[in-house]
Amino acid sequence: MHTRIEFATSQAEDELQELFTAYGMSMAGDVDEHIVVKQDNKIVAGAMVAQLDNSLYHILLFAVRMDARSQGVGSRLMQAMLRNPGRYCQPPGESSDASYQVTTVARGTAVPFYEQNGFIACDFSELAYPFDTQCTGCSDKNRCNPVAMMFARS
Ligand SMILES: CC(C)(COP(=O)(O)OP(=O)(O)OC[C@H]1O[C@@H](n2cnc3c(N)ncnc32)[C@H](O)[C@@H]1OP(=O)(O)O)[C@@H](O)C(=O)NCCC(=O)NCCS
Repeated sequence: MHTRIEFATSQAEDELQELFTAYGMSMAGDVDEHIVVKQDNKIVAGAMVAQLDNSLYHILLFAVRMDARSQGVGSRLMQAMLRNPGRYCQPPGESSDASYQVTTVARGTAVPFYEQNGFIACDFSELAYPFDTQCTGCSDKNRCNPVAMMFARS
């Protein structure tokens, strides 16, 4: 099977939105700011990561198609992003620091996945604004059980 990780294009918008909608998520910006994993030209995962400063990145979206889960697709994409997060941001950039952090807010059910990929749970106050307060007052908070997570490369 031919697997590629690339930026999404406008032709992929409906397919990508459908993947996110299945989890009650929606795209976090322009379609071409998102990363997709394609297997034989079918999108099996989508994500978005943003660079917040020289050494800080935040994953805004991350999801694997229902029928492609538990096959290592998510870990493969995550490890690629963690090795070189700047490459997957729009505009792509390089961290000028050898050490950097990648943060995210995980749904409670996804915490084991993030831990398996090197993240540890942290306090929401350790996230950059506006992510530190993104769940405050959310009516879905109890169902979602969000956890702030951090990956540090030193
Ligand atoms: C979380 C998610 C991205 C993982 O992607 P994936 O391709 O299935 O992950 P991998 O196959 O690389 O790794 C799977 C492992 O992660 C862990 N894991 C993933 N989802 C899990 C869950 N809901 N509960 C417990 N462990 C989970 C398990 O250890 C699992 O191993 P297993 O399949 O042998 O049980 C995917 O399940 C998903 O898109 N979930 C819905 C959306 C979501 O929660 N996004 C994440 C942040 S909000």
